[in-house]
Amino acid sequence: MTCLNAQFDDDPDGYDARREGWLFERRLRELRLHLDTLRDGDTVVEVGSGTGLLLRRLAAERPGLRFVGVEPIEGYVEFARSRSGDLANLRFEVGTGERLAEADPGPADLVLTNDVLHHVEDLDATCAGVADVARPWTQWVAIEPNPQNPWVIWYHTRTEGEALFRPRSFLAAAARHGWGAAQRAHLFLVPQAIARPPRPLVLAERGLERLPVLSGGSLIRLVRTRDDDPSR
Ligand SMILES: C[S@@+](CC[C@H](N)C(=O)[O-])C[C@H]1O[C@@H](n2cnc3c(N)ncnc32)[C@H](O)[C@@H]1O
Repeated sequence: MTCLNAQFDDDPDGYDARREGWLFERRLRELRLHLDTLRDGDTVVEVGSGTGLLLRRLAAERPGLRFVGVEPIEGYVEFARSRSGDLANLRFEVGTGERLAEADPGPADLVLTNDVLHHVEDLDATCAGVADVARPWTQWVAIEPNPQNPWVIWYHTRTEGEALFRPRSFLAAAARHGWGAAQRAHLFLVPQAIARPPRPLVLAERGLERLPVLSGGSLIRLVRTRDDDPSR
């Protein structure tokens, strides 16, 4: 498979190192809020888990939860496995969102997609695929580059292998497969390139990230609107 993650498909080490920094810590902070709603024994599935950076951290912090990352690039999965140490509550499998059940992640109590939906080939099939592993109470937290931010538009329309996230298309596809939006938010001001922002910038982020034209990320939390999926 080629170009699933822009120019980084063959470079798990470089991609993993590039992700670390302030923006990554902010993503973790947001996701922890959603993990707090789970009980020991529950399963968190990350679709498009990349090199496993998020799940490796979350699994170490929450040993009572089970974490499964599903990722199409085999080299990323090998890398994620090799970096998982002795975390017994974490596994990584090769697979796609469109055919999620085939990767056998088991029923999910919480699904995460972080910077993934603008990469998937078939958004509708991905919403169906995630529904296939959902329980009636499963929530799906998606964080994507915010398409209302002019810099995001510029970067994602001009970079090979990138695409612009289309929230309306996503929500329409999600609705067709029994998902409804329960929360929408704008997050992040500090870009990935500034791994250690100065304090004034951190303070500015707190006030300004809610402005759609400035925020770098868009969070959508989905809940099940029906238990069955008639399109399946
Ligand atoms: C920008 S990376 C994000 C990786 C990880 N979620 C993170 O935050 O570090 C996008 C990931 O989506 C994966 N991806 C692309 N198409 C996919 C699909 N159809 N199903 C699942 N993952 C996919 C890519 O291989 C890549 O690892």
